[in-house]
Amino acid sequence: MRTQVAIIGAGPAGLLLAHLLARGGVDAIVVETRSPEYVASRIRAGILESSSVDLLTSVGLGERLHAEGHEHRGIYLNWPGERHHLDFVDLAGRSVWVYGQTEVQKDLVAAGTASVVYEVGDTELHDVGTERPFVTFTDREGRPQRIDADVIAGCDGSFGPSRHAAPSESYERVYPYSWLGILADVAPSTDELIYSWHPHGFALHSMRSPTVSRLYLQVPNGTDPADWPDDRVWEELALRLGHGQDGWKLTPGPVTDKSVLPMRSYVQTPMRHGRLFLAGDAAHIVPPTGAKGLNLAIADVTLLSRALVALLKEGKPELAGSYSDDALRRVWRCTHFSWWMTTMLHASGDEFDAQLQLSQLRWVTSSEAGATGLAENYAGLAIGF
Ligand code: FAD
Ligand code: DHB
Repeated sequence: MRTQVAIIGAGPAGLLLAHLLARGGVDAIVVETRSPEYVASRIRAGILESSSVDLLTSVGLGERLHAEGHEHRGIYLNWPGERHHLDFVDLAGRSVWVYGQTEVQKDLVAAGTASVVYEVGDTELHDVGTERPFVTFTDREGRPQRIDADVIAGCDGSFGPSRHAAPSESYERVYPYSWLGILADVAPSTDELIYSWHPHGFALHSMRSPTVSRLYLQVPNGTDPADWPDDRVWEELALRLGHGQDGWKLTPGPVTDKSVLPMRSYVQTPMRHGRLFLAGDAAHIVPPTGAKGLNLAIADVTLLSRALVALLKEGKPELAGSYSDDALRRVWRCTHFSWWMTTMLHASGDEFDAQLQLSQLRWVTSSEAGATGLAENYAGLAIGF
């Protein structure tokens, strides 16, 4: 096979990149280890910042998002005895949208603009330092295949081969806690997300739709979900989210999914080596507290598609040359914000840390300057920041 851009990974980064390239007149082939059903049903992120919504809308992917997604003006910050709403629209002029990553993925598949080879094995990248890179893999029948390309885009997440194909430096922070996440068939007990600090640990009340709630609890690393039967999860969520505080109630319901997510920050630099460009989780991971993972993947491929259209259609190499630096500015901003939200809200077991966290929470909820900083980062900076 021969194409202009060989894309590894059909997650949101890979499929959106293929969609944007097709709109710019550049052809691409995507290879993916999993089946389309598996990729479409992975439960992951749930919040789109305003620049992601604007981008998806401007490229024909906004119809269902606007019909079925829910626009939120802000979030609640909670700690024992106190709940405060931060209104991002008033503070920063931007909102966020609740629309699951599964839905973004379905919209990308429905657009039909990406040519995807699913269920491949043994993906390998070759000659990325030359002008003639290629990818080899085996197809679902086990036959060896090869794609020759002008460029390879590594969109294969944190476990894929692309990040190992480039000499690079990496920065990493592993956190001493994980999230236990549940999906439940029950109406959310809140109109907007609640991020809650508690001496037992962080809790988050999020949602997917008017009938489906998504909630998280901070748990120790290595936690087995089997140690958390549904009753125990709801009891702990009620305690940490402030059930009974000012009459607020958490309504429990049937749990349809339960899993544990470890948390880390990771940045690989540069995000380009020769004809290999990295985007999304292949280049960086953030802890989920700031809801940035999916949004960063969208911002990366927006920049990358512009750079590749300029390079491959117009013969202009400048944007490709600056891609890594341009993308990393936002990556480091989101890495800082995600680290900051994480360390402000998660219990470390240390009383000094707890007092600093409460002081910081009082400041961001009572000072317009503090609140605006959080709002501007959460609701998202302009693409190209
Ligand atoms: P991915 O979505 O990981 O896609 C990479 C794709 O590459 C996958 O489809 C994979 O199967 C494929 N692939 C891997 N190896 C190969 C190979 N060798 N050959 C071909 N294809 C390959 N973010 C939030 O903001 N909030 C959340 O609650 C949240 N929850 C998450 C839960 C989990 C378990 C994970 C892993 C991530 C979560 N994230 C969350 C982060 C967010 O989902 C990611 O940032 C986002 O999926 C990044 O998109 P991506 O396309 O870069 O990577
Ligand atoms: C969700 C996940 C997050 O990490 C977050 O900060 C907000 C919402 C979610 O899955 O809905």
